[in-house]
Amino acid sequence: MALLLHAGRTRPHWWSRRRSPAPPPPGWIDVAAADELLHSGRLVVAVLGTAVLLVNTRRGVFAVENRCPHRGTPLAGGAVRATAITCPMHGWRYDLRSGACLNHPAALRTWPARITAGRVWLSAG
Ligand code: FES
Repeated sequence: MALLLHAGRTRPHWWSRRRSPAPPPPGWIDVAAADELLHSGRLVVAVLGTAVLLVNTRRGVFAVENRCPHRGTPLAGGAVRATAITCPMHGWRYDLRSGACLNHPAALRTWPARITAGRVWLSAG
């Protein structure tokens, strides 16, 4: 999806704080303010007892479990390049879109994520 920005604006028109949040879509959970994620680039939130890492990239927002399957290191401190994140402990790399490990037989849990009405939503399904 193409993201069109107006000259002089840093946010798309639908990002306005003046809008009240839309009601949650069925099956989606409101997990964070989109502004927080926009400013930090990544954010860890607790969703139903699981630490979920939200990552904002040029290719979209992704949500993955914030725990490396190798030895449990939080991935929030890992380097992000395009749609891949590298575990800061031993360098295993994961595709943020699928959760698949790119250099070992392992995978992260992922959730569909999207931004609507200034909020970050995860599909709990
Ligand atoms: S703990 Fe992540 S690669 Fe070892």
